[in-house]
Order: sequence, then structure tokens, then C-alpha cells
Amino acid sequence: MRTSQPQTIFLKDYRVPAFLVDHVDLRFELFEDGARVHCTLAMRRNPDSDSSDKSLELDGDSLTTLESVSLDGKPLEGSAYEDRDDKLTLHEVPDQFNLGIVTWIEPQNNTRLEGLYKSSGMFCTQCEAEGFRCITYFPDRPDVMARFRTRVEADKTRYPILLSNGNDVEKGDLADGRHFVTWEDPFPKPCYLFALVAGDLLEKRDTFKTMSGRDIDLRMYVEPRNAEKCDHAMDSLKRAMRWDEEVYGREYDLDIFMIVAVDDFNMGAMENKGLNIFNSSCVLASQETATDMAFQRIESIVAHEYFHNWSGNRVTCRDWFQLSLKEGFTVFRDSCFSADVGSPTVKRIEDATMLRTAQFAEDAGPMAHPVRPESYMEITNFYTLTIYEKGSEVVGMIHTLLGPDLFRKGSDLYFERHDGQAVTTDDFVRAMEDASGRDLSQFRLWYEQSGTPELTVRDEFDDAAGIYRLTIKQSIPDTPGQTDKKPQHIPFAIGFLGAEGESLPLKLAADDADAPTDRVLELTDASHTFEFHGLSERPVPSLLRGFSAPVRVFYPWTREQLTFLMSHDSDGFNRWDAGQRLAVDVINSLVSSTDGNVDAGLVEAYRSLLADSSLDQALVAKMLQLPSEAYLIELADQPNVPAIHRARERVLAHLARSLRDELLACYHRNTLRGHYEVTPEAVARRSLRNTALAWLLHIDDEEGRTLATSQFNEADNMTDRMGALRALVNSGYEKEQEQALADFYQQWKDDPQVVEQWFAVQSGSTRTGGLRKVHELMEHPAFDWKNPNKIRSVIGVFAGQNLPAFHAEDGAGYQFLAEQVRKLDDSNPQIAARLVSPLTRWRKFAPVHGEQMKSALETVRDKSGLSRDVYEVVHKSLAGQ
Ligand code: PHE
Ligand code: ZN
Repeated sequence: MRTSQPQTIFLKDYRVPAFLVDHVDLRFELFEDGARVHCTLAMRRNPDSDSSDKSLELDGDSLTTLESVSLDGKPLEGSAYEDRDDKLTLHEVPDQFNLGIVTWIEPQNNTRLEGLYKSSGMFCTQCEAEGFRCITYFPDRPDVMARFRTRVEADKTRYPILLSNGNDVEKGDLADGRHFVTWEDPFPKPCYLFALVAGDLLEKRDTFKTMSGRDIDLRMYVEPRNAEKCDHAMDSLKRAMRWDEEVYGREYDLDIFMIVAVDDFNMGAMENKGLNIFNSSCVLASQETATDMAFQRIESIVAHEYFHNWSGNRVTCRDWFQLSLKEGFTVFRDSCFSADVGSPTVKRIEDATMLRTAQFAEDAGPMAHPVRPESYMEITNFYTLTIYEKGSEVVGMIHTLLGPDLFRKGSDLYFERHDGQAVTTDDFVRAMEDASGRDLSQFRLWYEQSGTPELTVRDEFDDAAGIYRLTIKQSIPDTPGQTDKKPQHIPFAIGFLGAEGESLPLKLAADDADAPTDRVLELTDASHTFEFHGLSERPVPSLLRGFSAPVRVFYPWTREQLTFLMSHDSDGFNRWDAGQRLAVDVINSLVSSTDGNVDAGLVEAYRSLLADSSLDQALVAKMLQLPSEAYLIELADQPNVPAIHRARERVLAHLARSLRDELLACYHRNTLRGHYEVTPEAVARRSLRNTALAWLLHIDDEEGRTLATSQFNEADNMTDRMGALRALVNSGYEKEQEQALADFYQQWKDDPQVVEQWFAVQSGSTRTGGLRKVHELMEHPAFDWKNPNKIRSVIGVFAGQNLPAFHAEDGAGYQFLAEQVRKLDDSNPQIAARLVSPLTRWRKFAPVHGEQMKSALETVRDKSGLSRDVYEVVHKSLAGQ
């Protein structure tokens, strides 16, 4: 709990560490009532530091008891050091020494899930960003890299499996039914990559032969009941290992690679060296228990954590302001991997959707920060969409500007130059510059300036000269602490379509003989006009193809142009985007008028999508998804949430009624026979079929009801079972939906990952998931305040997805969320700070709602003993009134 006002930490205050740690020797004695940690550090003064201070400061947090301190083997008197809550200060140390520290900690009472804690009976750790200091006193910063040797001792019956980073070098039995295993990690690493696991776990083994012919032992450790849920993660791991060799020339470096699944975990997964720890929901899957989306998520997260071995572990971050160095780059790597093993256009659509819906919102809110922040109070609040997703887009733009070959040269240079080092985003950009010869100085603004650039595009056609002019203006809105921003270097991919939908050459000069039909324009000025020659007609421009930069584009598209692009653009992403823009336009025109008609053009566009089986069905499946309420809200100024909800529902109902026969045909055409596979084609077909079903149930179609119940009862996979359940829950068929929900729970009540989905489908439903339902779910025996996944699937899903209920007129949704945040803040501040985020956008909402949200935030602010995590979010959101 916080005892003083949280301090702000600034990038400009960075100093190299005064002391380095060469070696860490750890011995853990694990018991039921606590754990004793013996830590010996081989330390020396850092030659690069100009500090001449004789004293040594180490970080600590929530350490129950400091049992002893010794210097070079001699116990120290209490007067030789000062032991405060969060710091251990030794008044005087030599230039080189061994420091011994013994601490007693209580993992069984650790509800924050940082440091060493227990999850369903096993011990596990989470040390990023600053969890290692909850285990022992240590210079807990990523630029202190050391070799670790770790001995774990525990009861042999309860904890037969004892794991840590690296290779197991020794094991044996001890007195009293206890045993030990010693692990040694030959690679120096920052302490945030330390991990320990002890439990009664089932081991799954496989092997991988690297490109240089080394055999790697692959091991997964799961609770015995999850024995059948490992294959997909293991296969994904092998695909990722191969891909990193082929695309980046990166080979795995240890002899063992381990993955552990734990049920209680604050985030998705963690890339600890050689011992990745996963949230069960991000690694365990079987056809019966996980949806296609979960399969894809697991594949990308397994790859993400594996890729960190190079982008994060071998080359790590100098300080936490550089977090995007590893996260942005690694997300970029996992996105490319997913694109390569799946459907590239669909992957791009998913990434852009997430960015435009959630990251743009972050950029426009009170917590907006640059990809490389300048300051923070609590670093765990900065594991954001900006650091991860926008950071990935920034790396992706470098890839676009350099092209694949020079980018690879750049990444080779980066890994070679910085192997074993803790570096900065600037070092990354410099390696890209040095390898390619390109000047990225203006490009660096992407790391420094926060906010989403806005591009306004205007065009004119000079009939007589055959010249088409595109004028593009860029500006970046003010964000907290940043005004008057400079123009950025933006890769802007375009193409032109002729009257028949054909691609036209893009001639930037009159004599450009073999001009391409695809180009990346580089925007660097606040405004620039590009001239295209040799055109006999005014083209339809296809702008920001493939979402080549994380920006908003404004261009006065007509509905005719959008319909045209939707069916003719050779860029799959922009085809989808045109459909989205058209749907947004149609829905928005109904927000203010309750009697307007749904544009017939939209209906016809969807009709042809449904009819044309020659189209890429994965793309069609995406194109049939109407823009989400969250996205419509994000696009609006002072959004009226209930009105947006009603307008979208009306469009959906109108489409479903007008296209009923096509939907039924689509449903039947996409029924798959044979065994379940997660190929892009099969995923697309299940998605299309479930979308058709959802639309039919949305209008309470009788035939749809029959199809949904039989699909629910007969499905041999979770995608179809969940598709049917969701359709029923969002229909008016109360009897069927109650029956299905009860049957579902009965069948899966012992599987936490499935129960989470059962919670989410209910609290996210705008039909049945009101506040009353959420209260009911929180009373359910399967709900658990100690488990982040349960909190997310009930409270998080309610506030983030059930928008009409969350924004209910009486403000009850806001008060409810504030109450839960206050309560959670005592046990898990990290999750509490994430949960509060929907309230932080109070300024965006119309005066009445805004005031209600703000007063809910104030009740959180006024809680006594507020954590630093929640303090930062709430105070920044309320600041500057
Ligand atoms: N570094 C992890 C990842 O993105 C995320 C994480 C951060 C996990 C902090 C736990 C705690 O791969
Ligand atoms: Zn990561």
C-alpha cells in the first residue's frame, strides 16, 4: 500500500547504474507458510559511472522480513545499513564485493501477482517490470544484467517439478521429504527475466532441430487436467522457431525451452529466459474448449514470447522508457508471422481495427503518451496499446520505407551490434539507418510525439493536361504535455482505379514510362501536392493502402466511390476499409434521425458479398462484420451511446431482413463436414456461417432458432458451440438461451478457460447482460476476485463491450465500475488500474454522461491508501480542469 505521494520518474534523469552485478546466486526454500530467499550478489563498481558515492542502494517491495545482510561473508550489524520499505541502503561498500541477503516472503498471501506467488497450488513468478524486488533486495533495473544460478528446494510430493531459467545442473533429495534442483542460466540477463516454478505438473515433451543442427528439448508444463490442451501451443512454438530462423536468421540459444501454464496471471504471457510463463487462456487449447479466435491468439502469443528471446532478452531495454524497443519490435515480428501462417489481409484488418478502435482512443485520452514516454509514475500502466501496437506500426513503417532486404540488413546489424546489451529505441533506429544508408531523423518523431496524425486529402483533375493532383495535409492534435507538433515522416501507400475498376499507372512525371500501379508516397511536410500525369479520366483514389501508417485519413468519399472501391480495389485491406466507411456513414446518418431509411446501396453491396463465392471468403467474413459500437463511438464527438447502439441495431436488423435468404444459403453453404482444422479457409467458413446465424437470430428468425439450437447441441468444436450460444443469447428466444447457458455451464464447469467464455458471452450481451446480470455473475460460485481472467471476463467485458449498459442514462454503470476498482485496488492494483480505463474518457462524452463518469472517477480518487497504479490513472484523467 502507498505510504507517500507517488513520484514521477523522468527519462531525462537516467543515469547508468553505480554498481553492476556479475553473478546472482539464489536459493529458495519454499514452504506453505512462506519462502526463505538466500541471495548472493557478486557486485562491483560500474566503470562507466561517475558517481563516487560509497553507499549502495537496492530496491525492495513488500518483503516481509529482512533476516540478514552480509558483506564478503561477514554478517553486518544493523547500523551498517538502513532497511526501509522500498530501499535497502548499505552505508559503505568497497569497489568489489559479495553481498549476501536473506529475506522471508509470503507468496501464499501475494494477491498482486507480482514477484513470487501461488496459483492453484503451485509457486510461480512474475518479475517484469519491477517484481523481482518483491523477492529480494536487488538493483531492479533492466540495464543491470547478471548470470543467475538458482537452487529451488521444496516438498517433493507437493512440488515434484522445480524449474528456473537455463539448464538444470544438479538435483537431489533432502531431509523431511524435500528435494532440490539447481538451474544455471549462461546468458546474462536483467532480473525482470528471472522465473521460478514449483508444482505438481504434467510434462509434455517435443524436440526441435535448429538450422545449425542442434537439438532443442521443448517442454510444456501444465496441470494434469490440461493434458490434452498442449498440442496447438507446441506446434505453434515449432512454427515460430522455424520462422525466426528463416525470416530473421535467429536461432534458439539454450538447450531447453519451457512453457508453463498458470491460471492466475495479470497479463497474457511472459518471456522469461528459457522459461516462458503463460496465462492458461493464452496457451491451452483443444477443439472442444477453444474458439478459432483463441487458437489464433495462442499461436501469436506463443510466437511473441518466443521471438522475445532475441528481441528483448539477448538485446534488452536500457530502461523502461524504452519498453517499445522490445514490445513494438516483437509485436511487429509476431504480426508478420501470423500473416505468413494465416491470411495476411485478414491479419492486417485485425491489427488496424484494434489500432483504430482502441489505440487511437488512448492517443486521444488523458493517458496519451509517446511510443517512447518521457515520464511515468507506475511503469505497469505503460504496457499499453501505444507501446505495443503503435510501436509495432512504427517498426512496420521502417520496414515499408527500407523494403524487406534493407530491413533485414538493419535487424542483423542491430542484433550483432547490441547482443548482450541493454539499449534504446534510438539504437534500434540507428542500426536501421546505418545498414540502409537512409536518414531517419525526421522519422524519429514517431517515437517522441504522441497523438494520432490526421491527414486531410483533397484532389483535383485537370482534364486538359491529364493531370491529377493530390494535396495531403498533416497535423497532430495536442495531447497532454505536448502542443505544436512537427510534421512526421509518413509512408502513404496509394493506388488509382479507372472507371472499370482497373489499376492505373502512377506517373509522378510526364515521361515516367513504366510507372507502377502501387506506390508509397513519403509525406514529410505539413502540406504537399503530388501530381500524377498521363490520366485520361479522373481516377478513384485508393488511399493508405494496407494501412501503411497509423493515421486518420479524411477525404470526401461519396457513397458511390466507396461502393466502387468495395468491389474493385485490388488492395484487399482497402476493399474492407471502403465497406467499413460506407457502413459507418450509413449508421451515422441514422443516429440523429429515427425515421430515416437504411441505404439500399449498402444492402446491395452486402448482397453481392454474400453471393459471390469466388471472393476470398476470409475477406468476405471480415467485410460482413459491421463496424463495432466501440469504433463508432471512437469516431464520434460527444457520442450518444444509446443512439449509436440503436442505429447500428437498426442497420443490422434491416440487413438481416433484406438478406434473409442469402444468409440461410450462406449458412448452409459453409457447413463443414469432416474433421476440425484451423486453416484460414476453415476459419473463414465457420466465421461466415456464425455471422449468418447471428444476423438471423438478431431478427428472431424461426428457422435461425432451429439452426442455432441444433448447432449448439451438435457442434464438435467450441467455435460453433459458442457461435450458437452467442446468437441465442443475443436473440429474443429466452427459453432456448436459458437452456443453452445452463447446459453449457453444466458441461464445462470444471474448465476455467471455458467458464471465462461463458461469463463473457453473458456480461457482453446488450440483450441480456445488464448490470443486474453482471451482479448475478459476480455472485456465481465460479466467480473469483483473486483471478484476473474472471474479473476481466465479467467486469472488464461489461465496461468495454456492453456499451449501452455501461453508459446507461442513470450513471449506474459508472458507479458500479468505480466501486469494483476501489475494491480491487487493495488486492491487485495492476488490474484495478486497467479496469478503470473506460472512465478516463469522461471528457469525450456529452456533458451529462461526462459529469457522471467524472464523479465516479472522483470516488476512486478519494479512496484512502490508493495504489500508485490507480493514483496515476485517476489523477491524470482528472487533471487540468
Ligand atoms: N512482456 C510481456 C509480453 O508482452 C508482457 C508482460 C508484462 C507480462 C508485464 C507480465 C508483466 O510479452
Ligand atoms: Zn512482449
